[in-house]
Amino acid sequence: MSSPSNTLFLILLLVILISSTSSTTSGEDLHKQALTLAKSGDLQGSLKYFRGAVRDEPTNHKWVNDLGVTEMRVGELKKAGTRFLTSLHLSPSYSRALKNVQQLQTFVSPSEWVHLYAEWLEADPGHGFIEGVEPRPLSTGQRHKTKNLPVVTYESLLDPGNETVAEFILGAHPYILVGAMDHWDISAFSESSLVSEFGDARVDYYPQGMKEESVHPFFSDLRDALKNFEDPDGLYDTVDASSRNTYIQWNVRAAEWERLRLIGMDLPPMFRTDDSWISSCFSPLDRVDEFLVKTHWRMVLIGQTGAGMFNHKDTLQSTSFQAQVKGRKRWHLCSSEQDRNMYKAGDINAFNPDYEKFPNALDLDCFDDVVESGMMVYYPANYWHQTRNLDPFTMSVSGTLVTDGNNEPISKEFDRECDTSKGVRIFNPEEKLCEGLNKCKEIWRMKSWKEDMAADVEKVVRMRKGASEL
Ligand SMILES: [Fe+2]
Repeated sequence: MSSPSNTLFLILLLVILISSTSSTTSGEDLHKQALTLAKSGDLQGSLKYFRGAVRDEPTNHKWVNDLGVTEMRVGELKKAGTRFLTSLHLSPSYSRALKNVQQLQTFVSPSEWVHLYAEWLEADPGHGFIEGVEPRPLSTGQRHKTKNLPVVTYESLLDPGNETVAEFILGAHPYILVGAMDHWDISAFSESSLVSEFGDARVDYYPQGMKEESVHPFFSDLRDALKNFEDPDGLYDTVDASSRNTYIQWNVRAAEWERLRLIGMDLPPMFRTDDSWISSCFSPLDRVDEFLVKTHWRMVLIGQTGAGMFNHKDTLQSTSFQAQVKGRKRWHLCSSEQDRNMYKAGDINAFNPDYEKFPNALDLDCFDDVVESGMMVYYPANYWHQTRNLDPFTMSVSGTLVTDGNNEPISKEFDRECDTSKGVRIFNPEEKLCEGLNKCKEIWRMKSWKEDMAADVEKVVRMRKGASEL
């Protein structure tokens, strides 16, 4: 029989357990809290609660308007404008939002207004002009030249006699590869199996996406980062988490990469050429993971609709592939011939450039395409790239490669990284890591790139032939 003190202890334990498992706060509660703070004059403090409420219920036109009012009052005018437009988009007859548009227009110039209206229109294909809201942008969206990426089939890449595609494999042209993911076990990449297999993996987590260069990540494990997709727990003091465009960047370590392979990631031989030199250079020095993580060599990227990476070129001059596991991703790719039309990394939103501010962008001639689940995209060194997820749960696996064409510039980049007098660019150099990189440079210099690739491809073709004859 339990004593009264034991019973009391059990009740207390139960209360603690219940309160620690019910951490989800509803949008209703967040909105109430936001109003209380705003009424007490703490506008800045109320913002994160308004934003949390809107993330929880993005179609609540009143809450979206309330958020806009608060942003207008603290001087975040551009954001306020997009909230009022969204509120009217959700409820065209909502007169309060219309009045707020008119008030906002007394604080911004007509050209600023038109620009924010154009940005808002472009941000979501479902957005359109709103009745009664003037002035309207005369044009929006891309006006520079773009074309689709070449599409190459995996079968044709594996055909050594096919000279027209031979230059694509790890060459100087970007392309979409189809048919190379037919043997992947996609079920291994479901949210639940990722949590059970890799829940403790450390990830960088961007609750507001990576559309601007200045955003900084939160650090968390994959389990919590995925949970925060739907329920941005704790709210964020310093970032605007109102939109569902969270981006998770998981820098995959060696053991995790191996495990991904074991459970369903079946990479073609041309995208596995780094395995042997990574092991030769860094395993004896116990620096494999340090190399992989510091260079973002291999990543799993998980994001919501609208999340993406701002326009940039990879500093390391590396070549990359990305396998689209779930959802669709839009890619804008430009060669370095377009440098003068691109300004600085992050200046241009390639999907909707501000041609007034960056007039050279009108002369851009680039690729713009959508990579769908089951396709891979390849782009060579020195290519500008910008991405945007088009579905609520989008996932891709990316890898970096050293090739025949880029091993010399990469070697120079690593020399620069390891020269401490030049300051930190990508990573803090460490003696053993640089020792490993020196070994890599030697391996790359001596490597017979074309012959090794041909042998790898031949091996796969033989294996496939053997399998079909069984
Ligand atoms: Fe990149």
